[in-house]
Amino acid sequence: MEHKITDAEFYKTFTIVSVIIIGLAIFIAILANIFAGDLSASNNDQAQIDNNIHQRIVPSGKTNLASNPTIKQDVIVASVSESKAFSGEEVYNNVCMSCHTSGAAGAPVIGNSNQWSDRLSKGKDTLYANAINGIGIMPAKGGVSSLSDDEIKLAVDYILSESN
Ligand code: HEC
Repeated sequence: MEHKITDAEFYKTFTIVSVIIIGLAIFIAILANIFAGDLSASNNDQAQIDNNIHQRIVPSGKTNLASNPTIKQDVIVASVSESKAFSGEEVYNNVCMSCHTSGAAGAPVIGNSNQWSDRLSKGKDTLYANAINGIGIMPAKGGVSSLSDDEIKLAVDYILSESN
């Protein structure tokens, strides 16, 4: 015998099933909450928590931003403790690399002779001056004002020697 489901029956079944699903979801949410609460309660050593947070937020590389305080910090600390001038390669590795290795923000990439010969056509003194004073997005001295003009020139020389 054929049994036709009426609209009323359908809605009734539909409502019951919905209520069960919603109930299950709430139940699972409560369980998850209890479980997560347990985890953090068993790990209430504040030093450990601080350490974990530190590990999560510490940058994975000192790249991308001239404004990155860790980059400046390294260079300033180093210059105070050594007080001898940096070589072009050292300046490059500590300051310029963050943009000029990746080409971040449109920086000409070290080793790309086309990009650098274009720039060089303006004359080396212009490149020196722009690296010292900043150009476009690039901040003056790559953001590390404690570097001397000579150190910046050495870094430019280093970039050019790696890019011809
Ligand atoms: C924040 C990223 C960043 C850092 C750090 C950085 N540069 Fe740049 N640099 C750029 C960008 C972007 C350009 C292209 C700017 C433009 O042409 O508008 C550029 C361009 C240059 C140029 C070409 C200038 C010209 O006249 O065409 C030189 C030379 C240069 N940088 C040298 C350096 C040196 C040396 C350092 C390290 C002391 C350095 N840069 C650090 C982003 C950076």
